[in-house]
Amino acid sequence: MSVNYLASSLRSPGDGEREAAIIALGERLGLRQGLAYDRDWSAAPDFLKPIVEYALAAKPTTIVECGSGLTTLMLARCCAMNERGEMFSLENGAEFAAKTRGEIERYGLRGHATVIDAPLTEYLIAGQAYRWYAMADLPVRSIDMLVIDGPPGFIQRHSRYPALPLLFDRLADDCVVFMDDAARPDEREIVALWQAEFLGIKHEYVAAERGCSIVWPRRKQP
Ligand SMILES: C[S@@+](CC[C@H](N)C(=O)[O-])C[C@H]1O[C@@H](n2cnc3c(N)ncnc32)[C@H](O)[C@@H]1O
Repeated sequence: MSVNYLASSLRSPGDGEREAAIIALGERLGLRQGLAYDRDWSAAPDFLKPIVEYALAAKPTTIVECGSGLTTLMLARCCAMNERGEMFSLENGAEFAAKTRGEIERYGLRGHATVIDAPLTEYLIAGQAYRWYAMADLPVRSIDMLVIDGPPGFIQRHSRYPALPLLFDRLADDCVVFMDDAARPDEREIVALWQAEFLGIKHEYVAAERGCSIVWPRRKQP
């Protein structure tokens, strides 16, 4: 497998391991023409692996993602392998949206992924203002899998919090939510806010490189 994109972006001590894990995932998905991996901004392999394995096993019909990139490519490929499913990626950065679309085209996955230009817009949630993705171009469908990897944390406090309150009514009963960077204090607080708002939701924390929160918003704790 070519790692032309990978090699230039992996430099520090744990990078060899990370590169091997990304290549192994690429092999699993038949993505053998290089992967645009950015060590600072792409999801880590130990977040990519569980979302890929979940998508291959559960065969979701509709996947929605916040923050496009390698996750988009891999999940679109899962849909292709499953011969079902489609993903919609909300992206506020026009240049990142174009780059992800380029990757989707390069791998012939156009029918499986739509990268939506979704500029950050102001929403008022419980009296608090947040900037989050414009949803006008997001088709109204029941969402089976939600992947949260944006907006970036520097935008505001609790940047990723709006995903659940704004999309909750569209989530399928068995929808599973995966949030990256869950080890950060901000993301831990976001989960606590969701738990306070959506009483009894099921949450599992996976101690991945940057932490992964898995949430079943509509499944109550036993
Ligand atoms: C954590 S990144 C999303 C990564 C994506 N899910 C992936 O696995 O490749 C969150 C957002 O940061 C922005 N972003 C991506 N690369 C960036 C870069 N090199 N510099 C600044 N912002 C970036 C994009 O808007 C992206 O949606």
